[in-house]
Amino acid sequence: MKILNLGSLNVDYVYKVDKFLLPGETKSSLSLNTYCGGKGLNQSIAAAKAGNEVYHAAVLGKGGEMLKTALSESGVNVDMIQPSDETCGHAIIQVDEKGQNCILLYGGTNRTLTKEFIDDVLDKFGNNGLVLLQNETNLVGYIIERASEKGLQVALNAAPMNDEVLKYPIDKLSWLIVNEVEGKQIAGCEKDDEIISVLKEKYPSCKILLTLGSNGACCLADGKLYTIGCHKVDVVDTTAAGDTFTGYFLYGMLNNYSVEESLRMATTASAVCVGRNGASDSVPLKKEIDDIIENNKFGTLDVTVKDM
Ligand code: RIB
Repeated sequence: MKILNLGSLNVDYVYKVDKFLLPGETKSSLSLNTYCGGKGLNQSIAAAKAGNEVYHAAVLGKGGEMLKTALSESGVNVDMIQPSDETCGHAIIQVDEKGQNCILLYGGTNRTLTKEFIDDVLDKFGNNGLVLLQNETNLVGYIIERASEKGLQVALNAAPMNDEVLKYPIDKLSWLIVNEVEGKQIAGCEKDDEIISVLKEKYPSCKILLTLGSNGACCLADGKLYTIGCHKVDVVDTTAAGDTFTGYFLYGMLNNYSVEESLRMATTASAVCVGRNGASDSVPLKKEIDDIIENNKFGTLDVTVKDM
């Protein structure tokens, strides 16, 4: 099944620091690197590297030409990327000595989608496939409405979380993809272990993927809760680990893999991603993931399954 990602494109300016900046502090960074990023771009590249047929639609501003090239070189169809004279989105990312990041976004042209552009893109994509969204563009709620009206599956990665997400028609999604912070806010609960049961109650027809960083991930689908842990690997940079997980997991789910197999592929792909610097540059190829799994290079991770 083909994927249309109406998603963000960012130039990532990545500053290595020993520790994150504190309020009022000025300090020198250890290095600066520029990468292709944006949750949209990273997820398109991950989905394409996994093996999906991916179409990326976006408005791309000045300074972002390398982003279209990176998508295209990864096998993503870029025919629905519209140029603009305004400034491209970017991210200022600090990565500390443990590989953790903190990210400041400038939306730029990611926030200039129009209803006309979206309608045109959905018409061109047709009525068969999955629309993938993140919360870095404007008009996310409108896209969910229009895409679901056309009978398309819709998957939303509700990152970065903000109050707008609470107004989206989440009940119309096929997949809601969240981490524990986003999950708790959408569910309106306080504890991690309440997220899935509250979301199931609120949105009974929506499948849920909950990523938990180094604690693994859970998936609620078709009345079953699947839980997987995380490979223990050396962490260099966690940027795009969640995006890699999403791209690979969707590949599994759209290509007749079981939920268990999809979780194993996604977990392995994000474990490779955190061992490399940068965003989309750190997304592995499917043949690397197949080799790691077939030869048990990271060890075995069990997936537990229970009725829910
Ligand atoms: O998920 C990682 C991404 O978040 C980065 O590439 C950055 O651009 C922000 O969108």
